[in-house]
Amino acid sequence: MTLDEKLQKPLSEIGVTSPGQCQSLFEELNQRLQRDSAAADSSAKVEEFRIAWLGRKNGRLSFLSDNWLKTAPSPLKPFLGKLLNTLKGDVERIFNELRAKNSGRIDLPLSDDLKNWKAGVETEVRVSSSVTGNIEASQRNPDITLPGLSRQFGAKHPLTLVREQIEEIFISMGYTVEEGPEIETAYYNFEALNTPDNHPARSEQDTFFIKDGGAGRDELLLRTHTSPVQIHTMERLKPPVRAIVPGKVYRRDNPDATHTPMFHQIEGFAVDVDISFCEFKGTLEYFLKAFFGPEKRVRFRPSYFPFTEPSAEVDISCGICGGTGRTNQGVSCRVCKQSGWVEVMGAGMIHPAVFQYVGYDPGKYSGFAFGLGLDRYTMLKFNMPSLDYFFNNDIRFLEQFR
Ligand code: PHE
Repeated sequence: MTLDEKLQKPLSEIGVTSPGQCQSLFEELNQRLQRDSAAADSSAKVEEFRIAWLGRKNGRLSFLSDNWLKTAPSPLKPFLGKLLNTLKGDVERIFNELRAKNSGRIDLPLSDDLKNWKAGVETEVRVSSSVTGNIEASQRNPDITLPGLSRQFGAKHPLTLVREQIEEIFISMGYTVEEGPEIETAYYNFEALNTPDNHPARSEQDTFFIKDGGAGRDELLLRTHTSPVQIHTMERLKPPVRAIVPGKVYRRDNPDATHTPMFHQIEGFAVDVDISFCEFKGTLEYFLKAFFGPEKRVRFRPSYFPFTEPSAEVDISCGICGGTGRTNQGVSCRVCKQSGWVEVMGAGMIHPAVFQYVGYDPGKYSGFAFGLGLDRYTMLKFNMPSLDYFFNNDIRFLEQFR
């Protein structure tokens, strides 16, 4: 018979007639009390403990007094009463201790969400306490009603976002991403790109030369375009080569809304056997539609660069006026200056002379190259009126790109 079953019967029915037998019954009760109190480690379990022992109708102490004490033979009553009182005192003391220890602990079955939330609160407490230095106190008593710590997350600069987007389009076409030095020699910036000594780009007005930076083909200067990395890359790799080269370039321009002495280009080039003008046009059209939108029209205009032949300027239809030259309100479009076209890159088939500089056989290989202005692409993409925003670090501008 279990203890609880015994509690339902008068002592005589369970064969208890002597003080000694009473004593051992109470020892059993005491052991049970110890076990129950050890198990009561949350407020819900403390409540169970209270109902099991102190419940007015169905608690063990009530059964004990109703079923045992009241029905006990008179000689046994005083002794039984004393045992009962001691037990009652113990139960109440233990209950009060348990309640104090477990107050405020909520014992719900935790859903996964709740567990995550709890883990979040606990880390937050650790973070906030390491900020206040009060680790002990705040870990013991997290005040989850306090406003959370808000952290300022950085954002990628719009130029970085657009560069990465352009890189991704070319990487998807099998291109690699290469880099080269910003301080160049005249050889790489001009000569190996078939740009003769008398070319206007080589003048003092257009290029930053490094003081005491040597002379002739070794003369040091800040690169005026990313094209010299074509040379570096072709010197290093054998065809087939398909690469793009993002980087900073420098020209002696006075800063205004659309010019800065430092700006960003992305060079691209492909060299292989049998690269035709078709692949050249197709690749650039694919890229421009992927970047600016499939509805854009693409146009190639004849142009001149010393390192490409034939050369072209590439235009897309203006995204502001839809190529009409006039906005919805009938105002002439400022972005394309009413032409309906926006120039987006210089390009061409790589000049055979360039291949000779890097030891590629121009009879065997052909290729195309292009250069685009990353700052301009970013301005077009986000419809920005001025380059200033890129460089004056106004957080109100930059945080919009999160
Ligand atoms: N390097 C040229 C410039 O800066 C652009 C260009 C690159 C043109 C590659 C043709 C081929 O203007």
